[in-house]
Amino acid sequence: MNNMNTRRKELIDNTTTSRKGLKEVSSGYTHKVPSKGDMRLEKIINSILANEFSLFVKTLNFHWNVTGPRFHSIHEFLEAQYRELLEIIDDVAERVRKIDGHPIGTLKEFQKLTSIVERPGSQPETSNMIADLMLGHEVLQTQIKAALETVTGDYNDPGTEDFLAGLLSKHENMAWMLRSHLD
Ligand SMILES: [Fe+2]
Repeated sequence: MNNMNTRRKELIDNTTTSRKGLKEVSSGYTHKVPSKGDMRLEKIINSILANEFSLFVKTLNFHWNVTGPRFHSIHEFLEAQYRELLEIIDDVAERVRKIDGHPIGTLKEFQKLTSIVERPGSQPETSNMIADLMLGHEVLQTQIKAALETVTGDYNDPGTEDFLAGLLSKHENMAWMLRSHLD
């Protein structure tokens, strides 16, 4: 067995599962990555994905159904917002892949995990549409902050931490844009 293979075997032999179900690899230093047995982080990010998708659909719905004297500007503004959300959705799903999980991708799963409330069959007036979307971005900010706390406390995963902090900032920005239409 050459040196490289010996080293690889040592790493595999030293791999153990900790109390939290995290795989620990000892190789002079210890790092933790989510293991197959630890689905918690995957579920946390998939729940964010579900809310992102619901908020995307809601923004698209209001883009289609907005009426009134501000129609043109709000219609275009909401188009910019749903396009940004679509990019976010793709990034969040790919983050799930990067931690070795599987992003959900069916309407049934999104519906099961989302906490964004929908009101089928009714279209609010323009200011209430904007306020409803703002609330959605606030729900996401709270959810992302909770996820950040879990990642900081339980995982040594600065990549996911950095990703979540960036995501939070995007929602703060989108909420500010929406709020500015209500002032
Ligand atoms: Fe459109």
